[in-house]
Amino acid sequence: MKYGREILKGVEGYVPGEQPKMKNIIKLNTNENPYPPSPRVLQAVQEISTEWLRKYPDPVSLRLREAIAEHYGVAGPECVIAGNGMDDILAMAIRAFADPGDEILSPYPSYTLYETLANLHGSKMRYVDLDGEYQLPEQFYETKARMCFIPRPNAPSGVASGQKAMERLCREFNGLVFIDEAYADFADDNCLGFPRVFENAIIGRTFSKSYALCGLRLGFAIARPEIINELMKVKDSYNVNIVAQLGGVAALEDREHFKNTVSKIRNNRAWLTQALRDMGFRVLDSQTNFVLAHWKGAPSAKEIFEALRARAIIVRYFNARRLENAMRITVGNEREIEALIDALRAILSGEPMPPPDDAAATAVLV
Ligand SMILES: Cc1ncc(COP(=O)(O)O)c(C=O)c1O
Repeated sequence: MKYGREILKGVEGYVPGEQPKMKNIIKLNTNENPYPPSPRVLQAVQEISTEWLRKYPDPVSLRLREAIAEHYGVAGPECVIAGNGMDDILAMAIRAFADPGDEILSPYPSYTLYETLANLHGSKMRYVDLDGEYQLPEQFYETKARMCFIPRPNAPSGVASGQKAMERLCREFNGLVFIDEAYADFADDNCLGFPRVFENAIIGRTFSKSYALCGLRLGFAIARPEIINELMKVKDSYNVNIVAQLGGVAALEDREHFKNTVSKIRNNRAWLTQALRDMGFRVLDSQTNFVLAHWKGAPSAKEIFEALRARAIIVRYFNARRLENAMRITVGNEREIEALIDALRAILSGEPMPPPDDAAATAVLV
């Protein structure tokens, strides 16, 4: 591209998980919540006046940040920044804290957006492989970089590094530690208290998963005010729209709904994990709303993924090192898990594929 920037030559944009348009599919590929968001969110959105739509929203989302600070027991809104999804905050963090040419560290495998953002910024991604149990190896602590991104619990394995390991990392790492807690609400513990102890810790959160609000696009980060100030400098002027600001406050208010949804997903996760293990998959203990299911033998994991797809069930297959023999499966609702288990049993027992004129199957194959 003759008008393009030098830095962007050969850089690929991020490829999000597929969002098929067809109905009648079971979609377990992008870790959306199978249950609806709180009805209070819908009510808050419906009550938005034309006047609010006509005017610009609060550029610093103050009411929302106050609600987040109160809800999570943080000193005040000066310790919180809101974003257009956590992805927005990840991008801000690189813009605010890395210079082009700097190295950014992440465990491998992890959320692939970090690498895309680093490349777009002209920084260099440096990966250190997680060990066989998806824990941080010794080398991770020894590696120097400007900042590191660490999803905890990890995506795509679902495994959470121990709290002690995270504390050690914040103590010993020479740069900023961005702890991506996109899935922490499904986990047994979290690192929300870290910024109080470690000046280099930033905790990223999202409303997409546990609050079932992917479509609203709302995320936030908690850190010391000095860090939040730097992020504020680089954010887009009105980076959180009025619908998201009001919807987010309403979501936080409905504790009961949140607790029920998370608890259902945790129960479904235990059921799905056991069912997959019974079929011979190796499934790590997940702390998230998805599981990574490893499969060795014939048919291959990729063939199983394709056979599921032909039955209108979409899971995630990564054509990537260390993940060739695995599928990442979102924890769905009861009906979806039952359908997935039935389909897997049929595929593994060599049952013939559904006929090509089957409506759902052809829908996903076009
Ligand atoms: C590890 C991780 N971090 C961040 C995000 C982004 O979340 P959001 O929808 O708030 O942009 C995701 C989304 O899937 C994720 O998996």
